Amino acid sequence: MDSKKVRRTQIQDFKPEKEHFRAEVLNGLRKSQKELPSKYFYDKRGSYLYERICTLDEYYLPRTEVAIMEAHIKEIVELLGSNACLIEYGCGNCAKTRILLDHLPVPAAFMPIDISREQLLRVAGELVSNYPGLEVLPVCADYTSGFELPAPKRPSDRTVVYFPASTIGNFDPVPAIDFLNHIAGVCGPGGALLIGVDLKKDPRVLHGAYNDREGITAAFNLNLLERINRELNADFQLEQFQHRAFYNPGEGRIEMHLVSLRDQVVHLDDLSIHFAKGESIWTESSYKFNLDEFVLMAMAAGFTVEKVWTDERQWFSVQYLVKTTGENV
Ligand code: AVJ
Repeated sequence: MDSKKVRRTQIQDFKPEKEHFRAEVLNGLRKSQKELPSKYFYDKRGSYLYERICTLDEYYLPRTEVAIMEAHIKEIVELLGSNACLIEYGCGNCAKTRILLDHLPVPAAFMPIDISREQLLRVAGELVSNYPGLEVLPVCADYTSGFELPAPKRPSDRTVVYFPASTIGNFDPVPAIDFLNHIAGVCGPGGALLIGVDLKKDPRVLHGAYNDREGITAAFNLNLLERINRELNADFQLEQFQHRAFYNPGEGRIEMHLVSLRDQVVHLDDLSIHFAKGESIWTESSYKFNLDEFVLMAMAAGFTVEKVWTDERQWFSVQYLVKTTGENV
């Protein structure tokens, strides 16, 4: 093959339109408890800040997940099998996917799905050059709304979905089950889901993970307002909002908010949004699970938990779920 030839990756683009972004922002800010969807954190700077969060001491999630994957990679790839079509929801920089790709026999195809287009394009290009023979079919999409998966060239024996990082925790319980059920449909009969699930633990550890000393998580949270200012012509004054993250034990989730430091009015289009001092915008939930809670959730979504790997402290889990059939109901 001509090595000078630039290999281009064709991206399937379902990136949400600005109008959709605007509608969701306006809808959220009109509620009595103001809220914004956490999926909009990941613009270019947001994706960069998230990657920095992933290197922080306090943010134990990625390194714990990677350690679990590395410790059990043989067993994991045996379960995934050969000639699978691998689909990843929210691939980010694909760091953990590489652990799979380094050990799996070349999958029939790999479809990374992410909302952050620049990062997705770059990462897909890197995978194409690092894994010769792998068909990479990147899809830019908000995977919580409709989009189509591309058709791979090679037929596969089964579909395996990879959903790492405990992103499932960003969904409320009912939407989480709906989304897992949607994934079960994508997997089809004989398909499976490899998923990262963060576990309940000492609230002080959780608190630290979302309140890092360097303030990177605060910057990540505030960047959402900066993005809205830039893309939707709003006039949030970032100094007048403060990051707040806490564990809500009753709901079993970390909540991130942006708290207004004074009475103020923010403009977006012809809308004036009033904030009382101390009022917050709820920007993210990050649910934490018990292993038995997650078994029930998987079951409700049409999956059977076949295998659970955790670290020594039981802080995080990687789980292998198969689509429930008549035999394993
Ligand atoms: C790993 C993407 C699910 O909820 O922990 C990190 C994102 N939010 N710090 C999480 C996040 C605040 C995150 N996800």
